Amino acid sequence: MNQLLYTEFKLIIANHYRQSASFTAYSLSQKMTSTPRSISRFNGAQNYVATDDLKLAVNAALTLQRPLLIKGEPGTGKTMLAEEVATALNRPLLQWHIKSTTKAQQGLYEYDAVSRLRDSQLGDERVKDIHNYIVKGVLWQAFDADEPVVLLIDEIDKADIEFPNDLLRELDRMEFYVYETREMVRAKHRPLVIITSNNEKELPDAFLRRCFFHYIKFPDKDTMQAIVNVHFPRLKADLLSHALNTFFEVRDVAGLKKKPSTSELIDWLKLLLAEDIPAEILRGKDNQLAVPPLHGALLKNEQDVHLFERLVMMARHHR
Ligand SMILES: Nc1ncnc2c1ncn2[C@@H]1O[C@H](COP(=O)(O)OP(=O)(O)OP(=O)(O)O)[C@@H](O)[C@H]1O
Ligand SMILES: [Mg+2]
Repeated sequence: MNQLLYTEFKLIIANHYRQSASFTAYSLSQKMTSTPRSISRFNGAQNYVATDDLKLAVNAALTLQRPLLIKGEPGTGKTMLAEEVATALNRPLLQWHIKSTTKAQQGLYEYDAVSRLRDSQLGDERVKDIHNYIVKGVLWQAFDADEPVVLLIDEIDKADIEFPNDLLRELDRMEFYVYETREMVRAKHRPLVIITSNNEKELPDAFLRRCFFHYIKFPDKDTMQAIVNVHFPRLKADLLSHALNTFFEVRDVAGLKKKPSTSELIDWLKLLLAEDIPAEILRGKDNQLAVPPLHGALLKNEQDVHLFERLVMMARHHR
């Protein structure tokens, strides 16, 4: 029995890596079985400030039934967007966080050959059914869901270049073939796929062609004020305006290695409130530029801190 299983195991692994040819021929003849009857619209969310162009982008992806590719500086709300879109559309959220070692196949399924071999040695009955050893990935779970879901593929640029290429057909046709069980898995309902990228790597053209793209521009002062209001609805007006001025001044310093972003502003405000820091302290005497208190929440390396300190000194000398 063990010898037989071992031979089968080798065959399966070999098949697994011979995927593409037969897969292409087989799946070309297949069509999507079902599409959602009604496509909901995204009109914003309670806990998330979505600009009109961002709402437009989410709705465009819903209409086209194509993945929405979101880029933007770190901390500008890309991941949070997926969470909030799912809440607003009243859909479950499935999340796939990508690492440098993540392979596309892991999102589909994995064949747990080791457990099968072990079970066969223990004489377990489960060994006779290969289905017991197929572990569904996030994409399969999204395809299998009884209602349309939001599927977040977070930080796709962390993976190697083959990753997006390996998912082209799956994201396009929403189906894939399981070689071990010889079955075709098709999405019951097309999920809304939201893919985020921090631009660490270029994405292939063929992949880009299949997506609707949106870049989250860094929020202007009014949008940032609205974002802060969402997080701190009872923040005093003078603290808010002083904090925003200081924050944008820091961001405007030419030559910063890492500009602070929305999430850093939120952290900084949280600290200012926790330490009960009065608004006036954010500015030096006569409203001049000053190193902000708790600046470690905004400036994340020593070169930037020194640069800012030098600017403050120079501003004082020029008075
Ligand atoms: N439009 C927004 N509305 C409300 N909060 C926001 C918004 N944008 C950013 N934030 C705040 O910034 C935090 C960081 O957002 P998020 O983690 O989604 O950023 P990100 O773009 O995914 O960053 P990274 O690229 O580092 O993963 C959120 O938890 C939230 O507090
Ligand atoms: Mg993120």
